[in-house]
Amino acid sequence: MKFFIDTANLAQIKEAQELGVLDGVTTNPSLMAKEGITGKNNILKHYVDICNIVDGDVSAEVIATDFEGMVREGEELAELHNQIVVKIPMTKDGIKACKYFSDKGIRTNVTLVFSAGQALLAAKAGATYVSPFLGRLDDISTDGLQLIDDIRLIYDNYAYETQILAASIRHTMHVVNCAKIGADVMTGPLSSILGLLKHPLTDIGLEQFLADYAKGNK
Ligand code: E4P
Repeated sequence: MKFFIDTANLAQIKEAQELGVLDGVTTNPSLMAKEGITGKNNILKHYVDICNIVDGDVSAEVIATDFEGMVREGEELAELHNQIVVKIPMTKDGIKACKYFSDKGIRTNVTLVFSAGQALLAAKAGATYVSPFLGRLDDISTDGLQLIDDIRLIYDNYAYETQILAASIRHTMHVVNCAKIGADVMTGPLSSILGLLKHPLTDIGLEQFLADYAKGNK
């Protein structure tokens, strides 16, 4: 399973990268705004800064909602750095743009996916990644994990190469459950990755080992 971090915060991206388990980064306009990154030039520079920290794919989202605008923005984003993946919303024009980019060899991430049918369409259009939003479905009392499971089944039925990027991950158990289902990638906050480290028996066991060593090595 690939681990992506879902943030535009450079310090958190560095921390995850230094842990040695990071495979990429996803961003979105809200995450960029949260870091106070505004204005086209600053936003483009920020994507390059992110690419210079991580080794893997960096999703950069288009703002345009029409096909021509998405193509224009997406081509500009893709030219920024070879790690950039163009993130496109799950709309009619978005699917057309996805197919256009896929035909040109530009990698894509179809975002804001909330149904298996949308995921099927994204795969048909040649998306590199599809991003079902697990947490946001859970927020409205719908089973987000069931959606990941359904997409896995459909993609396996037809051997689609589109990777399932479980997005809107909120906590560590989302990560574990997505891994059990077979999501190819998860993207979540740093806390969802660091949470995987934790177990009280690990802490108790280590404390005991160190105490026993100290007793015998005074
Ligand atoms: C996906 O790429 C999105 O950036 C993200 O996972 C959305 O998560 P949220 O629902 O926590 O905002």
